[in-house]
Amino acid sequence: MPYTSELKKLIKIVEKTRPERVERKKRGEEFPAMSLSEREKILKYHPDFKEEGRSEIKVGPNKGYRIANEMVELLHAKSRVNPDLIHLSRIDYETDVLVIGGGGAGTAAALMAQKTGVKVLIATKLRHGDANTMMAEGGIQAATKNQKDSIYYHYLDALGGGHFRNDPDLVETLVTEAPKVMAWLENLGAMFTKFEDGRMKSLHGGGTSRKRMHYAGDITGAEIMRTIRDEARNYPNDIKVLEFSPAVELILNDQGACGGAVLYNLETEEYIVVKAKATVLATGGSGRLHIQEFMTTNHYGATGDGLIIAYRAGVPIKFLHTVQYHPTGAVFPEQAEGLLITEKFRGAGANVLNIDGEQFVYEREPRDVEAAAFIRECTVRGKGVPTPTGKFGVWLDSPMIDILNEKGTVRREFPGKWILFHRYGIDITQEPMLVYPTLHYQNGGLEINRKGETVVPGLIVGGEVSGGVHGENRLMGNSLLDVMVYGRIAGETAAAYARKQFKDGKLTLNHVKRYNKALQDSGIDLDGRVAPMILPDYSNPDVRKKQLTTDYTGTLR
Ligand code: FUM
Repeated sequence: MPYTSELKKLIKIVEKTRPERVERKKRGEEFPAMSLSEREKILKYHPDFKEEGRSEIKVGPNKGYRIANEMVELLHAKSRVNPDLIHLSRIDYETDVLVIGGGGAGTAAALMAQKTGVKVLIATKLRHGDANTMMAEGGIQAATKNQKDSIYYHYLDALGGGHFRNDPDLVETLVTEAPKVMAWLENLGAMFTKFEDGRMKSLHGGGTSRKRMHYAGDITGAEIMRTIRDEARNYPNDIKVLEFSPAVELILNDQGACGGAVLYNLETEEYIVVKAKATVLATGGSGRLHIQEFMTTNHYGATGDGLIIAYRAGVPIKFLHTVQYHPTGAVFPEQAEGLLITEKFRGAGANVLNIDGEQFVYEREPRDVEAAAFIRECTVRGKGVPTPTGKFGVWLDSPMIDILNEKGTVRREFPGKWILFHRYGIDITQEPMLVYPTLHYQNGGLEINRKGETVVPGLIVGGEVSGGVHGENRLMGNSLLDVMVYGRIAGETAAAYARKQFKDGKLTLNHVKRYNKALQDSGIDLDGRVAPMILPDYSNPDVRKKQLTTDYTGTLR
């Protein structure tokens, strides 16, 4: 739907303030970035700081830890399976390495494991590649331009973005591996956006001190996923892929190691037992939990399943007290609500403006700060732009990009978004976009070391389901990097474990029985809840309310 006449009138105000803003930008005069103390103050408007949004976990390794209510509800749910009715002696598949998750991290893991000659099986909830990686837009950070950047700047930026709470070892590995990952992807055929002389283009992202965001238009994740999925499917010794088969429990063995997983075939509704010498968990994030009723950028299967089953198996979680709301989710037109509008728009020069066409925040603050500033502008200062469905947003002035660069830049650099909005009758080279924070990334997750190992031998974790590398807030472009770096490492670690460390043992689901009992003993009202969720149930009016746009209100309620 094109902008209504009311919104078109408000766009005139943006147009009025634009020439002066463009001139200022051309002179290199940016809206002042916040000081550390200003950042701390504004963060109180961030949803993470809403105490009523969190509750205490009552069972398991992180008993007493307060995280989002929606995650706690899942941790306080019984298994979907009755452990007594799953026949672990009837093995459907046996493999060296089982990779759970067919997104970026899982596929990278499978490729690296396969390369060592072990037998690899990928089990994935939807189709191979249906994952958040595919939907990532703006870029991947890597310090590849040695004369201006270095892994040390990248390291400091990532730590600063994470409020210096990140696990330093994990960050060191992330930034050190970054240039190698870029070379690997290029060798496999990924097409990044380049200058005519073949050098890769790069931009700033929020919180970066150097331009190290490499990208493929505004479809970087799709390009990376296309490349590695093709490689996995074409690899000479085919990697077996089970689609529509999410994992519903991990299986341990009587040596205390991970021995595989129970999968659930979404088509036949049968349970499948996979025995594996090593298991990689790469199930991604949890945006579809719609924490605090926020809209989300995440794909349909992002329901946090891996967190739940690994936690039941005894793996601690870290940094889940913070989740990431991407500042610029579409809030108009209604059909596009929640969709990611890449940070790259701000990296390329677009200002963020309130209803009066005024800048109220430097557009490249770290994400949590930026999102908090938008929320304050709309909910406290009353300077949000009202949408026809009663929500609020702020303007992202995309037409500035063509003015600052050259005509055609937006269409060339943002083909995905240009086409999407064009279909709705909005020309983003002429009209700004209306945006509001949208649930984007998990930040925290399962505790790992720099090899991706967990406290459960034989269970290796990679990508968004893990926690520690981003501390309390991830910077743009470090997620595609995380899934590639730690996906690859997880595959190598798993293959080595399968070859050298694996000890066979009797398969069991006793940990599930113990977890169910702990839930019962804690007196939690289970209310019939089972987990993992697998898919969001939008037919349930409570869940529906969080997704269907006419009812969605986010934190504005
Ligand atoms: O804004 C974006 O394109 C998102 C990138 C990211 O989350 O890393």
